[in-house]
Amino acid sequence: MRILVTGGAGFIGSALVRRLIEHTEHEVLVFDKLTYAGVLSSLAPVASSNRYHFVKSDICDADAVSTALAEFRPDVVAHLAAESHVDRSIDGPGEFVQTNLVGTFVMLNQTLGYWRGLQDTAKASFRFHHISTDEVFGSLGDEGLFTETTPYDPRSPYSASKAGSDHLVRAWGHTYGLPVLITNCSNNYGPYHFPEKLIPLIIIRALNGEPLPVYGDGSNVRDWLFVDDHARALQAVFETGAPGETYNVGGNAERRNIEVVTTICSILDRLDPRKDGRGYAEQITYVTDRPGHDHRYAIDASKIRADLGWTPSVTFEQGIEQTVRWYLENRSWWQDILDARYATQRLGVSNG
Ligand code: NAD
Ligand code: DAU
Repeated sequence: MRILVTGGAGFIGSALVRRLIEHTEHEVLVFDKLTYAGVLSSLAPVASSNRYHFVKSDICDADAVSTALAEFRPDVVAHLAAESHVDRSIDGPGEFVQTNLVGTFVMLNQTLGYWRGLQDTAKASFRFHHISTDEVFGSLGDEGLFTETTPYDPRSPYSASKAGSDHLVRAWGHTYGLPVLITNCSNNYGPYHFPEKLIPLIIIRALNGEPLPVYGDGSNVRDWLFVDDHARALQAVFETGAPGETYNVGGNAERRNIEVVTTICSILDRLDPRKDGRGYAEQITYVTDRPGHDHRYAIDASKIRADLGWTPSVTFEQGIEQTVRWYLENRSWWQDILDARYATQRLGVSNG
C-alpha cells in the first residue's frame, strides 16, 4: 500500500510511520507543516529507507495537498495533522479552528477529487482515515465508558474543533461516498512525546529539579494508551476496517493524574535517584486548574477488539516504565526541543 500520513512528524504520526517502515512493506509519504510540534528527529530511525518520503506543507494549502495526492497516488490517507494541545487551544483557539476544521475540509475536498479520478478497483479499496480523539464525547462521571454511539459533547476549543472535523469526515462519506474511517482514541503516551503533555513534562521537569505541576487536585482521570499500540490499531483499521465505520481505541488503563505523576516519581527514584537522596514526589506542586477541565475519559474498545482483533499489548505499568527509560536514554531528543523551543513556547499553565 501507498500511505500518505498527514502530521507524520508528530508524536502519534511518527510512531505510525516508524511502524509502517519497520514492520510492513508499505510506502509512506509524510505530509507535515513542521509546526512547533513537528519533530523531524522522531523520524530519523526510518529516514534512510527508500520507502519513506517527506514533504513539508500545510494541509490548509489546497494546491499542495492536490499535488501530493497526484504525485504520490496513495491507497490510504491517514489524517493525523492537527493542533493537539488542549491548554494551547484555551490560550489561542484560532489556530485550532484553522488547522483542525479548515485543514480537514481541505484534505477531504482534495482527496475527493483525487478519489473520483481513480480506476474502479483502486477507488473501491481507497480509504480516508481520520484520526480523532475521545474528547469529542465530553466528560464522564465516575462511572461509564465512551462507546462509538456516545453523543458528541465537546467542551474545549480543541475538542470542539476535533468534533467538527469528525462531522465533516462523516458528511464527505455520507454525501459523496468517499470511503472514510474514523478512530477516536484515548490519551497516548510513550517515546517521542512532545514535552508539553503531562507525562513527558513531568519526567523532564523532575530530572531538571523543577516543580511538577498537577492541575486542580489531581483527581482527573485519563485512559492511557501506549503509542505503539495505537499505531498498531491504526494499521489494523485502515487495512481491514469497514468503510464508514468508527472505532474507539483505548488502553484499558484508567489512572488519576496524581497516580500517574507519583508512578513516574517512583520509577525515577529507582532508575535515576535525586543526588540529595530525597524523592522526586517532593517536587509535586498543585497549581490552578485548567479552565473547563474534563473530569474523566474512558474508552470501551470492545468493537475494535471484536471486529478487528486489536487489543493493547502492554499494561500501563509496562508502558510507563518503558517510557521513563526512553526519556532517560534519549536526553538529546528532548534537550534539543527544550533548547530550541522552551524559551518561546508555552509548555503548560505553570509556565505561562
Ligand atoms: P502532535 O501535536 O504531536 O503532532 C501534530 C503534527 O501535525 C505535527 O507534526 C505538526 O507539525 C503537524 N501539523 C500541525 N498543523 C499542520 C498543518 N496545518 N499542516 C500539516 N501538518 C500540520 O499531535 P499527536 O499527539 O501526534 O496527535 C495526532 C493526531 O491524533 C491529532 O489529530 C490528535 O487530535 C489525535 N489524537 C491525539 C491523542 C494524544 O493523546 N496525543 C489522542 C487522541 C487523538
Ligand atoms: O484524550 C485524548 C487527548 O489526550 C488528545 O486528544 C489530546 O490531543 C492530548 O493532548 C490529550 O489531552 P489531555 O488534555 O488529556 O492531555 P494533557 O497531557 O495535556 O493532560 C493530561 C491530564 O493531565 C489532564 O487532565 C490535564 C493534566 N495536566 C496536564 C499538564 C500539561 C496536569 O495536571 N499538569 C500539566 O502540566
